[in-house]
Amino acid sequence: MSIQPIGVMDSGIGGLTVWQELIKIMPNENYLYFGDSGFCPYGSKDSQEIITRVKTIIDFLIENECKIIVVACNAITASSIEYLRNNYAIPFVGMEPAIKPALMKTKTKAVGVLATEQTLKGRLFYNTKSKYAQGINIIEQVGNGLVERVEANDFDGESTMEILKKYLNPMLEKDIDVLVLGCTHYPFLQESIKKIVGDNVLIVNPAPAVARHTSNILEKMKLRSEFEEIQGISTFFTTGDTEKMKHILSMIKKTNYEVKSISI
Ligand code: DGL
Repeated sequence: MSIQPIGVMDSGIGGLTVWQELIKIMPNENYLYFGDSGFCPYGSKDSQEIITRVKTIIDFLIENECKIIVVACNAITASSIEYLRNNYAIPFVGMEPAIKPALMKTKTKAVGVLATEQTLKGRLFYNTKSKYAQGINIIEQVGNGLVERVEANDFDGESTMEILKKYLNPMLEKDIDVLVLGCTHYPFLQESIKKIVGDNVLIVNPAPAVARHTSNILEKMKLRSEFEEIQGISTFFTTGDTEKMKHILSMIKKTNYEVKSISI
C-alpha cells in the first residue's frame, strides 16, 4: 500500500492520453506528470540526446517520490527503456507498439502504423513486427509535423488536416482496415483521423492496455493506494506553456489537479 504518486512522463502533452486512461481505472492514486514541451519534439532527436534529457526528468520524478514511472511516450520507450530499467531500481512501464492486437483485427491483411521516426526505427517495433506480422502488409508512416500541431492545440485546423490526409490517404489506397496510433500525441487527433479514414478503419490506441498493465504491476508489488474512497490529486509539470497545458486539461474536464511551470 502506498500513497506515493505514479510518475507519468512524455515529451509534451501526449502522455495525457495515457494519464486519462490511468485515472479511469485508478482514480484514487496521486499522479505526477512531467511534460517536456519546452524540448518537444523528441521523435526526430537521436537516442543519446533523448536518454540524456530523460535522465534529468527521471531523477526529478524519483526525488519527488514516485513509486513507478509510466513512460507515456513511444519515442522515449524505443530509445531509452532498456537503459532506464538497467540503471534505476524503480519499476518502469513503457508504451507497447500495439501491432499484435491490430494484426488480430485486420481482415484486409493491411495495417497502418503512424508514429515518429524514433519509434519506427526502434528495436522494439522491429522485433514485434518480425514476430507477429507474417503475411500482413504493415504500412509504416512517420508522422512528421503532427506532434507540433498537437502541442499547438491544433487538432482539426487546415494544416493539421492537410498533414493527416498526406499520411493517411496512401494507407487507404493500400486498403488498410486497422490503424495503430504509435505516438501518444495522436489520440488527440482521433476525431480528425476518423473524418479521413471513415468508419471502416479501426483505430487502435494502446493507452488503455498500458494503463491496465500499470495497475497489474502495482497490484503485484502491493503498491496500490490505500485510500480507496478518495479521489487522488494530479500535479502537472511542464517545461513549456502552462496555458496550453491548462487548456488541454480543461478539454479533458477532470478535476483535482494543478499545473506548474518548471525549468530543469
Ligand atoms: N508522445 C511522443 C510519442 O509517443 C511524441 C514524441 C515526440 O516528441 O516526437 O512518441
